[in-house]
Amino acid sequence: MKIGVLSGGGDAPGINAVIRAVVRHGIKSYNYDMIGIKDGWSGLITGSFVSLNLDIISGILPKGGSILGTSRTNPFKTKDGPQKVLNNTKKQGIDAIVVIGGDDTLTVASKMGDLGLKVVAVPKTIDNDLVGTDYTFGFNTAVSIATQALDRLHTTAEAHHRIMIIEVMGRYTGWIALQSGIAGGADVILIPEKPFDIDQVCKYIQQRKNRGKTFSLIVVAEGSKPKDGKEVCYGSCKDEFGHPRLGGIGYYLGREIEKKLDMETRVVILGHLQRGGTPTAYDRILATRYGKAAMDLINQQKYGLMVTLKGKEIKSTPLKTILGKRKTVDLELYELAEIFFG
Ligand code: F6P
Repeated sequence: MKIGVLSGGGDAPGINAVIRAVVRHGIKSYNYDMIGIKDGWSGLITGSFVSLNLDIISGILPKGGSILGTSRTNPFKTKDGPQKVLNNTKKQGIDAIVVIGGDDTLTVASKMGDLGLKVVAVPKTIDNDLVGTDYTFGFNTAVSIATQALDRLHTTAEAHHRIMIIEVMGRYTGWIALQSGIAGGADVILIPEKPFDIDQVCKYIQQRKNRGKTFSLIVVAEGSKPKDGKEVCYGSCKDEFGHPRLGGIGYYLGREIEKKLDMETRVVILGHLQRGGTPTAYDRILATRYGKAAMDLINQQKYGLMVTLKGKEIKSTPLKTILGKRKTVDLELYELAEIFFG
């Protein structure tokens, strides 16, 4: 059998660890031919491939990014895209494909599955917003980078008696904000799941000031919005899946706080630092377990499934049950965080 592998959507630390596990297990345990598809679905539209062997995957475990490249290309938005995907798959003699992606990439996988493509999915995103699995790989690394950033901002905030606002990724969920905020001891955490009241945010800062704390740390998820307000976007363009480019809520907050309080604010947008570079040990292990499980499913000819983490176990679920949904944060955890606000 010849098995393809592709990574689509935004990169996440651990993609290469999945590719390594898929290729090693595929070759060593099942004697498959392995082929890499370049730049997500784009590679299947244009016919861009690279053959994979044990040499090529050697040393990639700790590397960020994706040795195959990635893209947000949507074949269903490209002229004859789905047919080109099917033709190129057939031309290459590919029997089944491991698709590493988030909701958008996996929605395409599912639709292509309906057209006859044999797919098995691996859940990837730093946002951790995919339902059906406790954790996506990449999330743990993003949280750890955001936590380190908070630790650094803490000291400079304190020295200058400032309010430091750190904006983190997460799209329409606050997983990164909430977990890094708790770990980094944030004084306020703002998440999309709970539209915020700017007066309440200022009250928390004032409360701290009243106790002699002349600085504060605020973590805000990029998709957060004020009550009765909208998300802030960086430019008006949308990607092929219709997502706007979120970004800038930190600056909005900084300006509003300065209008209401006699304090200086500074804003740090952590951006793609959360996605780049080496994965944590947790993500390397999770990605490796996912990659191995995906190949086992292919070997059992079980297609249309996504590998998942449930508690300590790796399981799988039909792709169709998880798509178009959003796993929002655990609000009990937010209540825990609130104890430390102000
Ligand atoms: O979905 C992952 C993510 O990193 C989001 O947190 C963020 O909104 C988006 O991708 C940014 O994507 P791009 O790669 O287009 O800048």
